[in-house]
Amino acid sequence: MCGIVGYVGEKQAQPILFGCLAKLEYRGYDSCGIALASGSLKVYKDAVRVGELAKASPQLDGMVGIGHTRWATHGEPSQINAHPHCDCAGEIAVVHNGIISNFQRLRNQLTSEGHKFVSETDTEVISHLVEKYYHGDLEEAVKVALRDVDGSYAIIVVLASESKLVVARKDSPLIIGIGDRENFVASDVPAILDYTNRVIYLEDGDIGVVTPDSVTVKSKGAEITREEHKILWSAEQAQKGGYEHFMLKEIHEQPKVIRDTLVEYTRAAEPIVDLERMRDVGAESMLILACGTSYHAALVGKYVAEELIGIPVRAEVASEFNYCGYSLSTPLAIAITQSGETADTLKAMKRVKEGGCRVVAITNVVGSTASRIANQTVYTRAGPEISVAATKSFMAQLMVLYWLAMSYSKADTRRLADMLMGIRQLPEKVKQVLDSEDMISESAEYLSRFDDVFFIGRGINFAVAMEGALKLKEISYIHGEAYAAGELKHGPFALLGSNTPVIAIVAQDNTYEAMLTNIKEVKARRSPVIALAEEGDEVIGELADSVITVPQTDALFSPVVNTVALQLLAYYTARQRGCPIDFPRNLAKSVTVE
Ligand code: G6P
Repeated sequence: MCGIVGYVGEKQAQPILFGCLAKLEYRGYDSCGIALASGSLKVYKDAVRVGELAKASPQLDGMVGIGHTRWATHGEPSQINAHPHCDCAGEIAVVHNGIISNFQRLRNQLTSEGHKFVSETDTEVISHLVEKYYHGDLEEAVKVALRDVDGSYAIIVVLASESKLVVARKDSPLIIGIGDRENFVASDVPAILDYTNRVIYLEDGDIGVVTPDSVTVKSKGAEITREEHKILWSAEQAQKGGYEHFMLKEIHEQPKVIRDTLVEYTRAAEPIVDLERMRDVGAESMLILACGTSYHAALVGKYVAEELIGIPVRAEVASEFNYCGYSLSTPLAIAITQSGETADTLKAMKRVKEGGCRVVAITNVVGSTASRIANQTVYTRAGPEISVAATKSFMAQLMVLYWLAMSYSKADTRRLADMLMGIRQLPEKVKQVLDSEDMISESAEYLSRFDDVFFIGRGINFAVAMEGALKLKEISYIHGEAYAAGELKHGPFALLGSNTPVIAIVAQDNTYEAMLTNIKEVKARRSPVIALAEEGDEVIGELADSVITVPQTDALFSPVVNTVALQLLAYYTARQRGCPIDFPRNLAKSVTVE
């Protein structure tokens, strides 16, 4: 959602803060700001991207400072609403990620006590609360202030006259980076990787004091040691590496991601999730919870598990699941979340866990909140994903789900042997799709002229249609709508015509004939059809206006190659339209509010 950073050390903080913020922009980028402390506080902020603010900013002195990159929740993006936020005296500055749910009540109370608010944000109440309770000890003031606060937060607080950062977290991620006579604080690891790979993950309820040469963390008032972790991926992995956009780089990393994730789990002595144990406790069904692209992985997982394991699987959007009333009879829930921080997914996880369910998290981020809530965590090996639109993390999630279903498959040995061979060939098959980039970018050039596009598929590839439509709308701002191909005639036909292209995903499975019929129906309404079909399909070329061919795979693996083709289609369409691909408007990579 928002990204926060802090620095305290022996160097000038300003360039370091801007550098760290630039790496955190995927968490929000509608405005940004910094505050430096050197006897007095200097705050510089605006509703612009980090690069522009850094260029426009005067040189500000100070070896301790904080920074913020915002995804607006309370108050529109503007200079006034940008963080950091200060107290009345301009002595205390705060950056915050999360939501203070009782801020209005606190604001009214503080106003009646004489505090003057300047912004519309919920965050500003924190700076005034800290001011109210500050009697010479910043840590104590933060501790007491947070007692009044409901909601979620990761905060960093600085005082004009002190060389230290006071930090706290509840339901929003926060890490401390350990350096040599300097220390860092950030919402996420990529922010600080240029400086250190030694990281401490704070836990909910922790309050920390960070100085150039010390880090003290307290939980429930008592000092506590939080383990130091070494981050194994490098700063380069979080760079573009010669690609024009992170998204394109991440799409191209997918053969490696598939390999890395599979190697991890095929070599493991234990199965990734102990479904046998689940069976002992009567698991006859499975629940998968997720949001956004991770939800589409959940849908693919549902098809695969139902076919291979033969148990009913419910895949639910976490934000809606939180309102459903049915009893939670399933003993196993899988939560899929790339970031491990999506508020709706975390809420759903807590809910099912409280209901006695064993929760397994599939996440890409070590130490994330999801991994702490879950009974067991299965890590995907996608490496850092920076572009807001998820690509390689989705692929890694699919691999875990395939492997899980194959591990407990009731399919016969021959089918399983074929699948084993098929899954091992996937990196090469994906590479073949990547090699057909030119063909895909031609279709993208055509697509970029339209305002509305339908994506249709059946069976497992309906989930792929949903993911393809999501990618297109996220980054190209074209209205992409996914429909189960058979449902198109129950309404959307009214919209079809020469200005509404239809992308039809045609897999070689039991949906094939029905898809051909659907394409004919669409053509009869004059909609241009771009088909995504397996190479060797002789029929499709006669029906569709153009065909994007993908390599042959086992039908259960067709989502892998089809998704990569649709990622590229969305990417090149957005590029054709000149969109800011890695940082699409109004979105954020990690949505830590409900
Ligand atoms: C945001 C991102 C999406 C992502 C979704 C779920 O909306 O922009 O790319 O799919 O959150 O995120 P998660 O981290 O839970 O997978």
